[in-house]
Amino acid sequence: MKLAAVVLAAGLGTRMNSSVPKVLNDLNGTLMLQHVLNTLYKLKPKRIVVVAGMHIEEIKKSIQDGSNIFFAHQKEARGTGDALVKAVPSLRGFQGTVLVVNGDTPLITPETLKKFLLLHTKRRDTLSLISFISREPDSYGRVIRDERENVLSIIENRDATVSQKSIKEVNSGVYAIESQGMGLLKAMKLNESKGEYYLTDLVHIAKNKGVKIDAFCMGSKDEFIGINTHQELEKARQLMKDRIIRRWIDRGVSFVDTTSVFISSDVKMGKGTIVYPNVHLEGKTKVGRGCTIYPNVRIQNSTVGDGAIIKDSTLIEGSVVKNRASVGPFAHIRPGSEIGTGARIGNFVEVKKSVIGSGTKASHLTYIGNAKIGKDVNIGAGTITCNYDGYKKHITVIKDKVFIGSDSQLIAPVKIGKGAYIGAGSTIIKDVPANTLALSRVEQRHIKGWALKRKSKVQSSKFKVTKKERR
Ligand code: UD1
Ligand code: CA
Repeated sequence: MKLAAVVLAAGLGTRMNSSVPKVLNDLNGTLMLQHVLNTLYKLKPKRIVVVAGMHIEEIKKSIQDGSNIFFAHQKEARGTGDALVKAVPSLRGFQGTVLVVNGDTPLITPETLKKFLLLHTKRRDTLSLISFISREPDSYGRVIRDERENVLSIIENRDATVSQKSIKEVNSGVYAIESQGMGLLKAMKLNESKGEYYLTDLVHIAKNKGVKIDAFCMGSKDEFIGINTHQELEKARQLMKDRIIRRWIDRGVSFVDTTSVFISSDVKMGKGTIVYPNVHLEGKTKVGRGCTIYPNVRIQNSTVGDGAIIKDSTLIEGSVVKNRASVGPFAHIRPGSEIGTGARIGNFVEVKKSVIGSGTKASHLTYIGNAKIGKDVNIGAGTITCNYDGYKKHITVIKDKVFIGSDSQLIAPVKIGKGAYIGAGSTIIKDVPANTLALSRVEQRHIKGWALKRKSKVQSSKFKVTKKERR
């Protein structure tokens, strides 16, 4: 089947009461329109036309992987029917089925659309649509059928009679139209009550012309909800959240408390991973197999390898944590970092734009910035790479098997050769050759009896003060 898709996204979204274009609201880490596009990509249409209105530039900018996407501009929001008319020039030369979806129904799945398209083709319909059973039918168009269940028309709530309002079968806003049926759009008339062209009018237009139409009722699934208000947006977020968590549970991830975790729709997770409460996995984060993510962890656009452990209250941004590494508690891994296989980053350690080799440990209170650290290095507590001179950032290179004693400062640019030792409390300003001990602290002196002398001095000065006070 040859397929093209049209997304209607030019509405004003008045009921959202917000300056953000409705279809650009975030839904679990992905914009509403992008969810719809991601679903459509799975159907591999020849082209996708997005009909956008006054926010067209913002909408164009927001789209990821825009290949095959055309934009049609509906300058004035004159209804869903007019929006589809605006897409027609971008469909010129296309012969096949045109799938039309609303930009505000982001929960619809590719499986449902595939099923629908199959029914549409099998029944050789010129026009068909998905209907569903809604508990709150008032925000949808009702499906009107005759006594033989043939669909006659769609009536919007505002135009429905009392008896029509009792109908629970509603229009999802998903249509399949054969390209030769697109001419029906010409017969649409302005709906006087709203001053708009209703795409739904196509149904009775087709019926009157004897064109073959069907409405396929797909049950009462939540996936068809349209988002017109903030309430509905919140509901959709909850549904999407549950769907994402269920997907990962089915694939072998366990959650200690599903209610308190947040997992973005683009996140990937491996089998056997366990996620504790209040964990946020955001953006395009990938967590491998058999990992443990302890409470209050946020991981953004990062990759965590198999068997890694991320301990409590840790933030990881734009970085890679390799297999079996351990990070946290209370660690901050900033963008551009790589934590090597089996490496350990402990309490109150901040790593920025640095590579930490495999088996290397920085267990406590350390800042590592713009550093390249080799394998099996031991970074003592309180070590600081002084990477910034007030103007520029400089690199610290630490080769394999180096031992950095606690409370050392490495003034970059500086290189520490393989196997070298840095004595605790050193300030290193020069490169240290391999296998060398570098010490740069002041030698320790002992002044015998100093403390006793000081004590007697302090006491006599106190005595003088009391005398003064008496005078
Ligand atoms: C529409 C349908 C209704 C259906 C429901 C499903 C019509 C007249 N009604 O109602 O039968 O049950 O969807 O969710 O079609 N849009 C434009 N240009 C416009 C107006 C709207 O592109 O001038 C876009 C919107 O951005 C939105 C979509 O079309 O993504 C649907 O518009 P909306 O106003 O939300 O229609 P509903 O009232 O929900
Ligand atoms: Ca809607």
